[in-house]
Amino acid sequence: MSEKKIFLMGLGSVGRNLLSLLVNENFHNAVGKKFVLVGAADSRNIIFDEKGFSPELVLESKTNKALDSAGTVLKKLPGADEVDIFVDMSTASKDGKRELSIYSDYLKSGKSVITSNKSPLANFWPEIMKLAEEGKGSILYESTVCGGLPLFNMVKSALPEMEISSFRGIVNLTANYILENMRRGGTKEEAINNAIKEGFAETDYFDDVSGLDSARKTVIVANSLFGTQLRLKDQKFEGIESGTEFHKGTRKMLISSIKKTQDGVLAQSRIEDVNESDKFYSLKAKAMAYEIKPILRAPIFVSEDYDGPLETSIGVLSDLISLLN
Ligand SMILES: NC(=O)c1ccc[n+]([C@@H]2O[C@H](COP(=O)([O-])OP(=O)(O)OC[C@H]3O[C@@H](n4cnc5c(N)ncnc54)[C@H](OP(=O)(O)O)[C@@H]3O)[C@@H](O)[C@H]2O)c1
Repeated sequence: MSEKKIFLMGLGSVGRNLLSLLVNENFHNAVGKKFVLVGAADSRNIIFDEKGFSPELVLESKTNKALDSAGTVLKKLPGADEVDIFVDMSTASKDGKRELSIYSDYLKSGKSVITSNKSPLANFWPEIMKLAEEGKGSILYESTVCGGLPLFNMVKSALPEMEISSFRGIVNLTANYILENMRRGGTKEEAINNAIKEGFAETDYFDDVSGLDSARKTVIVANSLFGTQLRLKDQKFEGIESGTEFHKGTRKMLISSIKKTQDGVLAQSRIEDVNESDKFYSLKAKAMAYEIKPILRAPIFVSEDYDGPLETSIGVLSDLISLLN
């Protein structure tokens, strides 16, 4: 089998962690000979070489803020003939249109797209799935929801064809960390500053605090696990208000909840009061977690104490390995 040509778009926290993993001996021994890294892009430069780059060189050039020094610089992304697997780890655009247009070129030609970027899937799920189906390409998105906490790949492999009646999850770490800091007496602004200082809130934290990020993820989970065709523009959601009041014995959490009802699938992203008897209550401030209820078996609860760019890049890597094997 010939080597797959991989292109990486977005070399921020997640992209650079992925490059470090590609250099890792375990991964290299397992699938290193199955791909060639033909190029990469950040917001300013696109580099390309059909013979391939070493991931070390791309990582080093980006770390030295000189991606363009690594190889030939292109004016636009390489065409579908030049790439087999396109990996999007770029900043989410507000409306997902930039990403849709890029994915469309690759998917129409039967190439595969892996993304950690939620915006295109939350805004254009029906279009992207149709492009993948018609072009016979794949779109994989494990890391879009709950970062590196296994979700879509776990459900697909461990619960194949299983009908799920509900999903309830903490899918945005930053918002819940801010709410927990506020409950402990801080103001919203102090809590945001703490999250930035700790290094997990993005400098542009608007999407997290407004609830938009959690809403995007809710749409993706509903479409993927419940077969809906939702779009972000139809999804109501709540964000964190400055004067939020907290009650003794309860936490406030931004929770994504989706359930099958007699009238169809109800998807919400809301701030809920969570009391001590709720298993979400005892989660750590930086936790991610979800509970899914399959129709035929006992509910499944999955959680982790922390999730960051490294964990997210491992989610991207798991999609990549599944395409390479
Ligand atoms: N961080 C996480 O834990 C996490 C978890 C789940 C999902 N995600 C998603 O994964 C993606 C990457 O996250 P991150 O934390 O790595 O973000 P980040 O550190 O802000 O990096 C974003 C990268 O995208 C590049 N970029 C921005 N606009 C671009 C454009 N128009 N074309 C090409 N590249 C562009 C940036 O270029 P420059 O380097 O030139 O600025 C940067 O390299 C985001 O969509 C994020 O929402 C992140």
